[in-house]
Amino acid sequence: MKGTAEIETPAVLIDRLKLEANLLSMQELADKHGLALRPHAKTHKSVQIGRRQIALGACGLTVATVDEALVFGAHGITSITISRPIVSSEKIDRVLAGLAPGIDLRVVVDSESGVAAAAGPAADSQRTLGVFIKVDVGLGRCGVDPGGSGALELARLINESAHLEFRGILSHAGQAYAADSREAAAEIAAAERLTMLGVRDALIGGGVEVPEVSVGATPTVLAAANFEGITEIRPGNYVFLDLLPIGVGVATEDQVALTVLATIISKNSRYFVTDAGSKSLTSDSGVHGMTGTKGFGAAYPEDRYLSPDHRLRVDGLSEEHGKLARTDFDLAIGSRVRIIPNHSCPVANLAQQLVIVQGGTITQWPIDAARGSR
Ligand SMILES: Cc1ncc(COP(=O)(O)O)c(C=O)c1O
Repeated sequence: MKGTAEIETPAVLIDRLKLEANLLSMQELADKHGLALRPHAKTHKSVQIGRRQIALGACGLTVATVDEALVFGAHGITSITISRPIVSSEKIDRVLAGLAPGIDLRVVVDSESGVAAAAGPAADSQRTLGVFIKVDVGLGRCGVDPGGSGALELARLINESAHLEFRGILSHAGQAYAADSREAAAEIAAAERLTMLGVRDALIGGGVEVPEVSVGATPTVLAAANFEGITEIRPGNYVFLDLLPIGVGVATEDQVALTVLATIISKNSRYFVTDAGSKSLTSDSGVHGMTGTKGFGAAYPEDRYLSPDHRLRVDGLSEEHGKLARTDFDLAIGSRVRIIPNHSCPVANLAQQLVIVQGGTITQWPIDAARGSR
């Protein structure tokens, strides 16, 4: 393919140079602070991008699901953390059966049920499973209460099991997406660090060694001033970025690597109508308590991408149609726009492939672990 004119729309475009810049700058941040980087691959679900992250220095990948772990494990990633707690021994059986014995698999628990689900299959397969305890640092989603005795009790239980190895504590301060400034996100990151170090010290006080303290969300990692005591970061969204971290003030539109290419298929006095609806852009309007998001993306005419005078808001979506609120300029039917989505992670998950654009060169990469929610 020679130019984007040949790409059928809607399509998910990846600006390869911006992707590479995002990958590099996160690795540099990790290196600067002496942190292991274990990117969350749920954002891209792409073996090619995962391998590039490892080549640049990442110590392994984070995934959310067993399906994702199996895909990345089958393609040469040798250290994988499944960060969503698993409470089913069938799932642990499935992932252990599917991953080569040499792969360092790490799971996350926040309950005795989680420890029990991991212990049986690990013993049956004669493998050692790394286990992290998830700590709730304010998101209120998963994790033990940092003020209680839950972490110590779970760590002791893990250490009683011959085939489980307690690796440390893990947190995700996703509530930082609701922050309205970089400073506010930095405060959330600082609070997360102090909370995690408090849990670490309580465990050490209780006689439990804590090899790793793993944190991570793109806004907190990009905003944090101090990583002392942290050993690992797990940002995911940073590879593509989107309007959510931009809203927090930790990224700018010109850094965004993922856009949706769409065609104007109709227009009226109020709207340009595109062929990118919620089945391409998703109707994601923000995560974790965000309330300020307006619309479903920022669209620019393809030939005036990022021109401030030509920014259009995606005001409405139906499944296969998107409505761009018109301003003072016209666009021809058949012309194209590039849309920065609210949230790039679910957009990549829904796409058929990633269309990689670098100058005049266009290639396609598969989304190897797409729609693997189990
Ligand atoms: C446990 C965990 N770690 C890391 C991340 C990465 O966060 P982000 O995509 O904001 O960088 C997520 C995202 O949902 C997560 O749930």
